[in-house]
Amino acid sequence: MSDPSRYLVTAALPYANGPLHIGHLAGCYLPADIFVRYLRVNRKDVKFVGGSDEHGVPITIRAMQEGKTPQEVVDHYHAILKSSLENMGISYDIYSRTSQPIHHKTSQEFFLNLYNKGLFEEKESAQYYDEKVGVFLADRYITGTCPICGNPNAYGDQCEKCGSSLSPDQLINPHSTLSDAVPVKKITKHWYFPLQQYEPFLKEWILEGHKEWKNNVYGQCKSWLDNGLQSRAMTRDSNWGIKVPLPDAEGKVLYVWFDAPIGYISATKELTDDWEKYWCDPNTKLYHFIGKDNIVFHCIIFPAMLKAHGDFVLPTNVPANEFLNIEGDKVSTSRNWAVWIDEYLKDFPGQQDVLRYVLCANAPETKDNDFTWKDFQDRNNSELVANLGNFVNRTFVLMHKLCGGKVPPLHGEVATEEDQQMINAFAETKQKVGSLIEQFKFREALSEIMELARKGNKYMQDKEPWILARQLDANGKVEETAQKKIDMCIHVCLQLCANLAILIYPFMPDTSKKMLKMMKVVQRMLFWENAGKAKLLSVGYSLRAPELLFRKIEDSEIEAQLEKLKSGTAKAKEKKEAASATTYTPLKSEITIDDFGKLDFRTGTILTAEKVEKADKLLKLEIDLGFEKRTILSGIAQHFTPEEIIGQRVVVVANLAPRKMRGIDSNGMILMAENHEGKLFFVSPGEVVGNGYTVR
Ligand code: 2FM
Ligand code: ZN
Repeated sequence: MSDPSRYLVTAALPYANGPLHIGHLAGCYLPADIFVRYLRVNRKDVKFVGGSDEHGVPITIRAMQEGKTPQEVVDHYHAILKSSLENMGISYDIYSRTSQPIHHKTSQEFFLNLYNKGLFEEKESAQYYDEKVGVFLADRYITGTCPICGNPNAYGDQCEKCGSSLSPDQLINPHSTLSDAVPVKKITKHWYFPLQQYEPFLKEWILEGHKEWKNNVYGQCKSWLDNGLQSRAMTRDSNWGIKVPLPDAEGKVLYVWFDAPIGYISATKELTDDWEKYWCDPNTKLYHFIGKDNIVFHCIIFPAMLKAHGDFVLPTNVPANEFLNIEGDKVSTSRNWAVWIDEYLKDFPGQQDVLRYVLCANAPETKDNDFTWKDFQDRNNSELVANLGNFVNRTFVLMHKLCGGKVPPLHGEVATEEDQQMINAFAETKQKVGSLIEQFKFREALSEIMELARKGNKYMQDKEPWILARQLDANGKVEETAQKKIDMCIHVCLQLCANLAILIYPFMPDTSKKMLKMMKVVQRMLFWENAGKAKLLSVGYSLRAPELLFRKIEDSEIEAQLEKLKSGTAKAKEKKEAASATTYTPLKSEITIDDFGKLDFRTGTILTAEKVEKADKLLKLEIDLGFEKRTILSGIAQHFTPEEIIGQRVVVVANLAPRKMRGIDSNGMILMAENHEGKLFFVSPGEVVGNGYTVR
């Protein structure tokens, strides 16, 4: 690896609106961590930064759906994301969050830097708006019938049934997914970043300068650039996000894709006062690990922003992975078709390395791949248990049984071609693995390491030290030459164990550390410069008893996981159906304006409220109507206590004929709204302050 002074590695900031699943891990967190661990053992000056992405529409929507504040939603998921990443051994130097004040400040300064250069175009445009909920709607939040195939559940940007890309205008019966309201168009002003101005720079920088980027990344960039770039709004209408730092920007926040990548800068600032060393010095090599859906933001938009700003380095590489499907089907959080990391860790405690192994061995590096529980079991049982684990275990057991628990000496006189070949393979593998990691070919790198373990098993099988141990001398001791051959074999196998511990460290750090413990060596041995050497463990050094590195995974465990996946998705379906089956009370028959005109609604205030004897549903209210005070009986006693409604502003049907109930005259009716669960709400006159005003 060439030797620049420092490395900065980032992994996409996950949205804090749901837990982490294996697709996230395989997509970017695991490859980033492997790369960073490799750099660290190569003694590079490296920082690994990331955090939760806590802004954007999906978060506000989740909050709305769950009846929580956006802050409550992000606090909840940030904690889950952080601990899942930690428990999977993703070794960030800092895992921050975009709600940190330092991030707000950094993003606003970035925006102002571009603004002060006069870069933004200010434009007004008509955008879809949900009047019921009071929010502007991204195309995705509008559904309706596809004009092409008639699918009734097409989205405003795409019909998932026939694959056509659509605009909300084309949908038949469009409605908002948030409230069912028919979206209306409303004029709003936003600040647009003129991406097209950076097209020549991006073409030169990527298409000419970064031909070495992965094919999937380069190809996507080329297609964006060939299609031509357009201005992009960098602000949104929302009350959740980073406020646009301008005087005439009430209710406007930075677009989440403007602020999120700046999160890498803010997190570095939070981590170290030396942050400029990593962001402003051309000797820095910046790597963004992401999933394929993030390519345009990291390769086109963010670099154009960085270029426009001018103070920061551009990424050296953006190694994006494709998607990981599960059991042949796309991961879907809404259908709960996912393997969640927090649940995996509960079901397979202490087995984070097994998942790291399987996800890397089957990583979607060049195309979408499929995760199946059967493959997970097979890889664990036949690769980790039967190959790597078996080799290490046999070596240690035989060393204790046949060599007195110590590293046996080498004996040149019994050395064979095979011994030398085995030893040569250490350095060859190290060289291949290092080079593959540097090319982001992690799955091939891992496969080389497993191949080395396989060679170890074969070497031992061919040498058969347990058979040699049966050749006894006259005193019943193992015959001298046979013992020398045993020593030779076990010595080489132990040195191979030490090499394997170093090589697997970036991939399976926990297993590597267990091996260090068995070998009674310190962490320092893991420096990459030690890999390839055949003298890592000194002759005569006594080693611990073996600890089983992996355990067999039973069929029943796999069946349980498959069942969980199926029942999880069935439950999500039921929930969705129940939500969409919400029935609205049918409309009453039509009335005329004259009918309506007969009703006299007035504003009022509840002065007193008390329970009515022997009537559990009724409250007796005294209402101030301005021109008079009225007694009204209302059937709300099971929803409100008398105390909590005193002072409540109400709308009263004031010309309803009086009605006697429980011996009391009720003079009118209070308007109430009822939701689908039967909860009652007062229809309040809002900002109207006086009593007795008419409501029309
Ligand atoms: O796709 C996502 O999950 C985004 N939250 C990734 C953001 S990466 C970066 F820009 F912060
Ligand atoms: Zn369609």
